[in-house]
Amino acid sequence: MSPRFKVAIVGAGVGVQHMIGYLLNPRTYDVTTICDLDRQRAGALVAMLPTARSQTEVERVLADPSIDVVSICTPPFTHLELALRALEAGKHVVVEKPVAGSPAEVDRLAEAAKASGRLVVPVFQYRFARGPRILRQLIDAGLAGPPVAASLEVHWNRGRDYYAVPWRGKRATELGGTVMSHMIHAHDLLTYLAGPVVRVHAEVATLVHPLEVEDTAAVAMRLDNGALATSSATIGAARDTSRYRLVFAHLTAESGLAPYAPGEDPWTFTARDPARQSEIDAVVQAYGPPRRNGFAGLFQELAPALTGAAEPPITLADAHAALSLVAAIYHSAETSSAVDLPLSPKAPAYGGR
Ligand SMILES: NC(=O)c1ccc[n+]([C@@H]2O[C@H](COP(=O)([O-])OP(=O)(O)OC[C@H]3O[C@@H](n4cnc5c(N)ncnc54)[C@H](O)[C@@H]3O)[C@@H](O)[C@H]2O)c1
Repeated sequence: MSPRFKVAIVGAGVGVQHMIGYLLNPRTYDVTTICDLDRQRAGALVAMLPTARSQTEVERVLADPSIDVVSICTPPFTHLELALRALEAGKHVVVEKPVAGSPAEVDRLAEAAKASGRLVVPVFQYRFARGPRILRQLIDAGLAGPPVAASLEVHWNRGRDYYAVPWRGKRATELGGTVMSHMIHAHDLLTYLAGPVVRVHAEVATLVHPLEVEDTAAVAMRLDNGALATSSATIGAARDTSRYRLVFAHLTAESGLAPYAPGEDPWTFTARDPARQSEIDAVVQAYGPPRRNGFAGLFQELAPALTGAAEPPITLADAHAALSLVAAIYHSAETSSAVDLPLSPKAPAYGGR
């Protein structure tokens, strides 16, 4: 049986999703602490999990030698510092998006992780969903062929109440706008399934609310094999929908419209050559019983990495790629020019804005 890792969750907003994800892996994880500056928010989670205790001071969490893993679910501007402190305290770190504000900051975190011998695992839970997992299997089985084109839509409805939370909508605390906060999962999924982005042209705009950051964005991307992708995001849509269509040489994969777990809707996988549809259908049918997905899937696959038996399912290299793409999008929009990736550490965008 796997050892049980004692977990502290810091930040009780999306932290509840982490809590559920750990609880769905009971043989591996034991959530012992919920920490939030807001006592009531921490208390609300502890009410659901009476074996855990609540805490308002992160220093006490980090000083607790029984805690192995710290899940950082606080606002974006706090992630880097909290992650560095958790590493210093000898904890493994799971950290919400965005891990940091720039590729340079991810480099800092990677150095600290190496020095501490502990893991830093960014959260890109969309990868651990049925649709993307099946597509990954089709790609690995050679049934997809090279990527050709993709279109991604993140069209959500966020009202004034969403931006009433003080850290949102400000560059210093959210570390960006819709590109940083809402497109980041979609772009991670694109690069995970179709390969790295090597060139970006982008436009961003603030059209929906009077914010300091953008709330709408349009991005054109060239992938490393030459495929072309477009991505559109706004928080000004009537309803919340996300949609992914990925065209490969031999098949087209299409998601449903589920906004936050786009992998969970049934995806369709259509062969370009109808004679090969049955090979694709066989992989889909063999996918098997429902697996743990989303946060629970991420934490399940993290378990062997915590014992050193495997590589973590998501690494700081993934966060570096995600934040390089964010930096390139902003730089392209600000300079009305194409930006090539990977960014050189000497590139103006590398250190953030
Ligand atoms: N992976 C996803 O799909 C997903 C979904 C939503 C949010 N997020 C990310 O999660 C993070 C939090 O978002 P949210 O919507 O839960 O925000 P939120 O404002 O609802 O919750 C954050 C909580 O952190 C607490 N907090 C802040 N600083 C703290 C500190 N030093 N110590 C202890 N508690 C502290 C706040 O009191 C607050 O309760 C953001 O980075 C966001 O981008 C990710």
